[in-house]
Amino acid sequence: MKNDVFSLEINDFGFFWNEQYLNRMNNRAQRIFSFDPALIKGARVLDIGARFGFWSWAAHRLGAAETVGIEGRKESADRGGKLMAPYQHDYLIGNAFDIMPKLAAEGQRFDVILNLGFYYHIYDHYGMLKLMDALKPRVIVIDSEIDDLDEPVVRLRKEKTWEPNNAIAEVEGQQYSAVGNASRGAIEMMAECFDYKVAWCDWSNLTNTEECDDYVNRQRFTCLLTKD
Ligand SMILES: C[S@@+](CC[C@H](N)C(=O)[O-])C[C@H]1O[C@@H](n2cnc3c(N)ncnc32)[C@H](O)[C@@H]1O
Repeated sequence: MKNDVFSLEINDFGFFWNEQYLNRMNNRAQRIFSFDPALIKGARVLDIGARFGFWSWAAHRLGAAETVGIEGRKESADRGGKLMAPYQHDYLIGNAFDIMPKLAAEGQRFDVILNLGFYYHIYDHYGMLKLMDALKPRVIVIDSEIDDLDEPVVRLRKEKTWEPNNAIAEVEGQQYSAVGNASRGAIEMMAECFDYKVAWCDWSNLTNTEECDDYVNRQRFTCLLTKD
């Protein structure tokens, strides 16, 4: 793929990506950063559910000035420390639903909000959109499992909180959390209520589909939310 953001050099930082996973991440990157490139140059970027910081790292490689990652698990953020060391990056550790209102109350703003691999690990999608909107972004990117339905619904599920990619526990010792997959229709309806237009990225045009089955099968989508 031309203009790949990620390469196998990422493994120098202690990760174990193979060519197939690299293909997935570069295909995601191509769509996640498919907005006007001028918006990322010098931008302040919020990365929600940042995990090891890959997407903040990618944002810096594309010219972002500053990234802030919110991550509920300190051990995940710690793993990303070396990767992010050369860049202007802060990790805020805790529940995004607790941290984001504080950022808004402080008057903090972000040009770009990355909500990647996160929107299906929560149950309050509308509340999360409200919290993102309060930070006055020029673009919000959602990349998530999303149900392929026009009908505006959220399908609730139960998720193991001890899996490091999943929802964090709401109370100490909680083993499962209720989370939900919003539908395409739900995302569009909720976005419209905050005056956002939704542009869905095309996942049907892949030359190499390795590790991208969930996107090809329309279980997972990427969309950009912008205001006029
Ligand atoms: C599936 S991973 C996504 C990682 C990365 N953004 C990506 O797209 O590859 C979800 C991340 O969100 C974090 N997380 C889950 N619920 C959270 C919450 N309420 N607040 C902050 N982080 C949370 C998890 O610890 C995990 O690192």
